[in-house]
Amino acid sequence: MDVKKIAVIGSGLMGAGIAYVSAWNGFEVHMTDISQELVEAGMERIRNDVMTGIDKGKMSMTEAEGLMSRLKYGTSAEEAAKDADLVIEAIFENMEVKKEVFAKIDAAAPEHTILATNTSSLSIDELASATNRPERFVGMHYFSPVAAMKLLEIVLGEKTSEGTLAVAKAVGEKQKKTCVTAKNSPGFIVNRILMPTMREAIMLYERGVATKEEIDTAMTSIAGMPAGPFTLGDFVGLDIAFNAMSTLYREIGDCFTPPDTLKNLVESGAIGTKAKKGFYLYGGEEEEPEPPKGADLEEVAQTISIMGIREAMLLVDEGIADREDIDLAMKLGAAFPQGPFEQAEKIGMDKCREIITKLYEEHGECYSVPKMLQ
Ligand SMILES: NC(=O)c1ccc[n+]([C@@H]2O[C@H](COP(=O)([O-])OP(=O)(O)OC[C@H]3O[C@@H](n4cnc5c(N)ncnc54)[C@H](O)[C@@H]3O)[C@@H](O)[C@H]2O)c1
Repeated sequence: MDVKKIAVIGSGLMGAGIAYVSAWNGFEVHMTDISQELVEAGMERIRNDVMTGIDKGKMSMTEAEGLMSRLKYGTSAEEAAKDADLVIEAIFENMEVKKEVFAKIDAAAPEHTILATNTSSLSIDELASATNRPERFVGMHYFSPVAAMKLLEIVLGEKTSEGTLAVAKAVGEKQKKTCVTAKNSPGFIVNRILMPTMREAIMLYERGVATKEEIDTAMTSIAGMPAGPFTLGDFVGLDIAFNAMSTLYREIGDCFTPPDTLKNLVESGAIGTKAKKGFYLYGGEEEEPEPPKGADLEEVAQTISIMGIREAMLLVDEGIADREDIDLAMKLGAAFPQGPFEQAEKIGMDKCREIITKLYEEHGECYSVPKMLQ
């Protein structure tokens, strides 16, 4: 099927971004929200993005006019769905509300229409169960900011058909995204791998192995990350990190238990740069950095990186995604300088097994050796 019209439900941060990249790349778009005021706020975001595009010389006036002429907006999801080839839902993260919205859209949309969700953490299968077309239901997980982030995780439910996957991919490619595919499972690819690395960084800090500053330095100067885990966590928002980790904890188990340091910060409102305090203080307040522990920074970087490598191997062991897609996803979605499998090749598989075995002997089950290394 050749998608021409896309309905985007929800005009917040993600919905407006998805509508923008869709209209920019030639799709007819109908974006909705629950009130005129909210959908207009979404349109305002898009106009701002367009103005930025023009100012930066990335878009001509004619292209901007073309983009805007392909965008319609309103307050009825059913109206938007009724002549759409693809509906992308980007409303807030709540299973019951999303299911209600999907049941309505399913009833209003033509037979051929594919329904997609941008959920970060909810089960694609459960969302699909609210519709009568689970084979034409798929996860399309964009990253923020949508216009700038190249990655699109396409998430397959148990019943998602090959044809639906092909359409989602074709749409993603036309939106100039690099598409990777994962089976429906908690955290999909990027969050599932990112969270154990962040958790390990916090655990090293809690165990008194290294200070936050030493850990951040190890990850930037040795592992080559653009930002250390504490700085990155503050920037992304500790509430978002805590929610992502909590989902994995609920769905997978104790190895994803959010560490106390993270939980306490979030509960006290210290959720990162947006609150001017998180792991670090921002906005003028000074904090005495902890005296260095004299940690072996090579070892710190290796331990944190190996947790990402281990999780990536578990994803392959579990048949959720393949190596190439995992490497691509982590480079484009989490700014890893190399994919986990590229890192593993560099370290050497025998050495990876040795490091993980040692961690397993010291700390137990959450550091078990993946099947592919046994
Ligand atoms: N923010 C991110 O970084 C990010 C990244 C990837 C995926 N996501 C996912 O994208 C989705 C949206 O997140 P967001 O950050 O854009 O949230 P947001 O709060 O910015 O926007 C959500 C919008 O949905 C609207 N809405 C709520 N109920 C609606 C309904 N019944 N019909 C139409 N619109 C409705 C709200 O009014 C709001 O404007 C969530 O599922 C989230 O998990 C977010």
